[in-house]
Amino acid sequence: MSKITPKPIKLMDTTLRDSHQSLIATRMKTEEMLPILGKMDAVGFAALEVWGGATFDSCLRFLKEDPWERLRKIRAGAPKTPLQMLFRGQNILGYRHYADDVVEYFVQKSIANGIDVIRIFDALNDIRNLQTAVNACQKEKGHSQVTICYTLSEVHTLEFFMKLAKDIENMGADSICVKDMAGLLVPYEADRLIGALKEAVKIPIQLHTHYTSGVASMTYLKAVEAGVDIIDTAMSPFALGTSQPATEVMVATFKGTPYDTGYDEQLLSEISEYFRPLREKALESGLLNPKVLSVDINTLLYQVPGGMLSNLVSQLKQQNAEDKYYEVLQEIPRVRADFGYLPLVTPTSQIVGNQAVLNVLAGERYKMVSKEAKGIIKGEYGETPVPISEEIVQKIIGSDTRIFHRPADDIKPELDKLRAETARYVQQEEDVLSYALFDQVATDFFKYREAQQTKVDPAIADEKNKAYPI
Ligand code: CO
Repeated sequence: MSKITPKPIKLMDTTLRDSHQSLIATRMKTEEMLPILGKMDAVGFAALEVWGGATFDSCLRFLKEDPWERLRKIRAGAPKTPLQMLFRGQNILGYRHYADDVVEYFVQKSIANGIDVIRIFDALNDIRNLQTAVNACQKEKGHSQVTICYTLSEVHTLEFFMKLAKDIENMGADSICVKDMAGLLVPYEADRLIGALKEAVKIPIQLHTHYTSGVASMTYLKAVEAGVDIIDTAMSPFALGTSQPATEVMVATFKGTPYDTGYDEQLLSEISEYFRPLREKALESGLLNPKVLSVDINTLLYQVPGGMLSNLVSQLKQQNAEDKYYEVLQEIPRVRADFGYLPLVTPTSQIVGNQAVLNVLAGERYKMVSKEAKGIIKGEYGETPVPISEEIVQKIIGSDTRIFHRPADDIKPELDKLRAETARYVQQEEDVLSYALFDQVATDFFKYREAQQTKVDPAIADEKNKAYPI
């Protein structure tokens, strides 16, 4: 369709962030990543996505790792390739809006510890929620990549996305990511969308999708032909299903064409070889549920992103309500429509998903409503793509106050207070930020860390005894 001159395509590898977040509930450990970093660094990827998203929470909560330490180790292990992170706008990596001073400080420390590219998104595509992070990224000389969360609804037309792309370019972003978190972007639509965006803006465009509905590698083919600059892929043992298309497959697809990546296929094969036993281990332990590996065409009907599907399965399992899976899937688009057709991505995917579960398990819609769902209705997350109907507003929040300005305008600077609260535990400046995002979980981690440190190595104990003889 478009008259774009073919050029070599670049890949961003997501194995160390999105792939394991999508397939194994973000449980890949730092020690499992480090041995292969040298080879991954040698491929020549546009970037390695290694941090942010749910990895930060998972490090502190489940893996008992310091996420900042992980980042520094990855930086040391992959010194050449740009490192990329996923950043939820004014939510940073947490689940509420933070004050601007926390957002700025988090960006500063992310870049100081090794991040080059920050992919910033807002679940509602409300760009007022992105500006502080973009400005901070530029101040720290990072590359700010602003995201369009791709979704389908009567308002999400090509013109809608072109206007959004222009707004993003005008706000000063260095590049745009079309983030198709649910695998909804079908191949010929990708051709139209990427073609339209390339006409609308001059900054590079990167495409991110998930294999959930089975169309993703075809979507990439059409997007590349339409002129997209970078596509996101994962090494084959952690590709497909709710993760990304496989890196090696896309490299082979474009080999010998004007889109040839030029990557060393032998090297890629060695990297795959490393990850294969990790996949086998995850399958054996049940961490990798084969259910998320097969094509789920329902995603095209229900618009449910990859990570959300695996969360939903485990959530219903815990409540012994696995048989309600398809009922909940059908409830999700209804809740989404009620909530102004918001895109489903963290945190809105969790909020809408939980609300759908509550609606189904309670046997009555909105009999129980989470605090977060009320927050959406009140405007605490920003502006929804379509105004929420008065009927739903009445039903869920009655006459409670709603806001229509940028939510973070109501939040006073928080850093000083957070510093005071964490003084007892802080061992590095970044700990304040871990606490800012996940206060209880971070505090538990700080206590764990101290306990580990006071399990004194006998050699150190001897030294102490020498220094202070009784
Ligand atoms: Co993703």
